[in-house]
Amino acid sequence: MSTQKKVAIVTGAASGIGKSIAQLYAQRGVAVVLSDTQSELGEQVVEHIRHTGGEAVFVAADVSQPSDCERMVSVALQRYGRLDYACNNAGIGGEQQPTADYSIEGWQHILAINLSGVFYCMKYQIPVMLASGGGAIVNIASILGQVAFPNAVGYVAAKHGVVGLTRGSAVEYASQGIRINVVGPAFISTPMIQSFESDPVLNEMLISQHPIGRLGLPDEVAELVLWLNSEKASFITGSYYPVDGGYLAR
Ligand SMILES: NC(=O)c1ccc[n+]([C@@H]2O[C@H](COP(=O)([O-])OP(=O)(O)OC[C@H]3O[C@@H](n4cnc5c(N)ncnc54)[C@H](O)[C@@H]3O)[C@@H](O)[C@H]2O)c1
Repeated sequence: MSTQKKVAIVTGAASGIGKSIAQLYAQRGVAVVLSDTQSELGEQVVEHIRHTGGEAVFVAADVSQPSDCERMVSVALQRYGRLDYACNNAGIGGEQQPTADYSIEGWQHILAINLSGVFYCMKYQIPVMLASGGGAIVNIASILGQVAFPNAVGYVAAKHGVVGLTRGSAVEYASQGIRINVVGPAFISTPMIQSFESDPVLNEMLISQHPIGRLGLPDEVAELVLWLNSEKASFITGSYYPVDGGYLAR
């Protein structure tokens, strides 16, 4: 089947930021392939999108598995016949330990999802985009792709890696019609940081790091992602964009 609509893949789309990105794409008339390891939640988001007149399909996929990433791109092709946009967003917070106490398993696990997962997705998305003359990709890093945070060395290293991965592939494909950028949110109110938000002292500390005086919302990240992937951003590639309430400006 092929569609006249543009087609987007969003990973980690069952929750939080990915869910907002998938829903905003659908609202703007783009057919969306949502993927996540949480199938029940992912199917619920698809149901909501269809109920509100959008076009979407869910693929259960673990981004740390190359074959799952290849399959999610195949589903986009089989179902819609093309791929125009991708947002590689799936990620975890990982262990909270200083470096010497961080477990080997925890290190390998977070690198496999937060860094290798982005590489595997791009590896299979790029050839399909090249075949149809171009496309645009946004990878989700973090402010912790630019600066440090204590007791999160696996997360900080993986997100710095996503920035490098984005720049490296952006310069390879810029002349072939594929733009690749990276977005760095500060602390955004999603299930990922629920345990921080539910601790009043920690929550106040986090808020105080953002000059705007509050945490961010998933929709505020989604707006930037969709703009960067749109034709309005036609001269932008290989760049890191914070969406951080002033966090990095201090
Ligand atoms: N919330 C924040 O404060 C914040 C800040 C900066 C960056 N980020 C990044 O934004 C992205 C989205 O996070 P969120 O805040 O929406 O969190 P979230 O936990 O609400 O959503 C993350 C989604 O990724 C999925 N996921 C986890 N591991 C996966 C895997 N191996 N394969 C496929 N899907 C998987 C989860 O099931 C979940 O649905 C992450 O990459 C995160 O690192 C979040």
